[in-house]
Amino acid sequence: MLSAKMNDALNEQINKEMYSAYLYMSMSNQSNEMGLKGFANWFMAQYHEEMYHAMKIYEYIARQGGKITLKAIDEPPGEFASALDMMTKTLEHEQFVTRSINDLMETAIAEKDHATQIFLQWYVTEQVEEEENDNDIIAQLKLVKESPHGLMMIDRDLAGRMTTVPTDFSKGVGGEE
Ligand code: FEO
Repeated sequence: MLSAKMNDALNEQINKEMYSAYLYMSMSNQSNEMGLKGFANWFMAQYHEEMYHAMKIYEYIARQGGKITLKAIDEPPGEFASALDMMTKTLEHEQFVTRSINDLMETAIAEKDHATQIFLQWYVTEQVEEEENDNDIIAQLKLVKESPHGLMMIDRDLAGRMTTVPTDFSKGVGGEE
């Protein structure tokens, strides 16, 4: 059972995860336009992860007998100055999501909602990984500065990222990732 306050807060988080997917779709497109196919791949994998994050909450609300409310998704920025600009904005956005997950956890604690606290633990852990990945790529980009050769090496590395989360939700979100 979800309290109305918890239910509302989880619906807000679906919207934030959907916006995250939209933002990374935009960055994937921008990467393609810059000729950075590896970055485009990395951001598209990120898009799939965010859709999975949203769908996990969607399914959780439904399983708890709550009410799902889908809200308008904001328009993401469509222009970015560089790969470093995109990765810096990615990190800033993930830090915003981390604060949002922490706020959700605070609400779950205040509402004495143990099930939602356990559910949210997955997201707490996930955010550590997300920020770590972004920090690693930013460090590499700063290391090579503006060197085209260095940028191409990072791009080749990011081309290897595979989407590991489920992408077909017709039968639910499936197992844990
Ligand atoms: Fe769903 Fe990237 O946080």
